[in-house]
Amino acid sequence: MPDLSVQIGRVRLKNPVMTASGTCGFGREYAPYLDMSMLGGFTTKSVTLRPRKGNPPQRIVETPGGMLNAIGLANVGIDEFMKSKLPDCQTLGPAVFVNVAGESIEDYVEVCRILDTADGLAGVELNVSCPNVKDGLTFGTDAVLLKELVAAVRPVVKRGVLLVKLSPNVTDICSTARAAIAGGADALSMINTFLGMKIDIRTQRPVLANMTGGVSGPAIKPMAVQMIHRVYRDVTRAAGVPIIGMGGVRCWQDAVEFMLAGATAVAVGTALFAHPDAPMGIVRGIEDYLIQRGLGSVNEIIGAVHEVRD
Ligand SMILES: Cc1cc2nc3c(=O)[nH]c(=O)nc-3n(C[C@H](O)[C@H](O)[C@H](O)COP(=O)(O)O)c2cc1C
Repeated sequence: MPDLSVQIGRVRLKNPVMTASGTCGFGREYAPYLDMSMLGGFTTKSVTLRPRKGNPPQRIVETPGGMLNAIGLANVGIDEFMKSKLPDCQTLGPAVFVNVAGESIEDYVEVCRILDTADGLAGVELNVSCPNVKDGLTFGTDAVLLKELVAAVRPVVKRGVLLVKLSPNVTDICSTARAAIAGGADALSMINTFLGMKIDIRTQRPVLANMTGGVSGPAIKPMAVQMIHRVYRDVTRAAGVPIIGMGGVRCWQDAVEFMLAGATAVAVGTALFAHPDAPMGIVRGIEDYLIQRGLGSVNEIIGAVHEVRD
C-alpha cells in the first residue's frame, strides 16, 4: 500500500485530505455521514475573541458552479469554544486545526494565545480575509499588514503549526504568500473565497443581506489551481513551506490535480453540502491512483506537474 502521510510543519497527517473551515461546523454535525477518523485533518469554522451573531439572513445562495456566502463569522467566541466545542472536536480522530478571525491584530494574538493552552491541537489557521477596524484594510490583501499580523501571532503559537489562509482577492498572490512566510507562517492555506454578488432581477435587490459574499465551489477551481501552482513554483518550493489547497475540490481527481500543482494536502469545502461523504472517496481515490502508477508515496505527486515550455 502506498504511504499517504504528509507533513505540515511539525504535524504529520495520516493522509492529505482535510475539511475546509466553515463548511463542516465543529465536525460533530457531519458524524452521521462522514467518518472523520478517516481524514488527515479537520479545520473548524472561524473562532473570534467575542461571540458573533454573524450577518442577517439571507446568508447563502447557490450560484452557477458553486455558492455565495456571507455568514459573517457567526461563532460562540473563544471562551465558549474552549469549553464546549474544542474537547469534542479533539475526539473526532484527525489532526484538528482551529481557524481564527479577528478585527485587530490584538484580537488574533489573544485568541491564538488562549488556543496555545490547549493540549493536542495540531495548529491554528489565520483567516485573514477580515477588515482591520483600525484602518479598514483587509489583512489578507495588504502584504505589509499581513506580515505584521503573522509576526505578531507567531510568538504565541508555540505548540501547534501556524497556517495562514491566503485571500485570492489580490493582484499578486505571490506577494502576500511571501509576506505570510516572512512573518513566520509554517504553511499556507489557499484559497479563501472570491468576492461576489448576486442580484434578484425581480426585486432589483442584492440577494444577500450583506450585499456581497464569497464565491466558492467548482467555479473557482481553475483559479485555485493556478494560484497554488504559481505560489508553489515561485515562493514555497524554495522556502520549504507546504500548501494546503482548497477551492472547488469535489473528487479524488480534483485532489490529485491540486497536489500536482503543488499542494501538500487538500481541503474539501462546498462539496460537503451536496456530498458530505466526499472526503472518504477522495482518500480512496488518491490511494488507487498511486497504486495504478506504481508510486510508493503521495509525496511523489506534490508539484509534479510537467510544465510545457517553448
Ligand atoms: C458556507 C461557508 C462558510 C465558510 N466559512 C469560513 C470561515 O469561517 N473561515 C474561513 O477561513 N473560511 C471559510 N470559508 C471558506 C472555505 O473554507 C474555503 O476556503 C472556500 O470555500 C474554498 O473552498 P471550497 O470551494 O471547497 O468551498 C467558508 C466557505 C463556505 C462555503
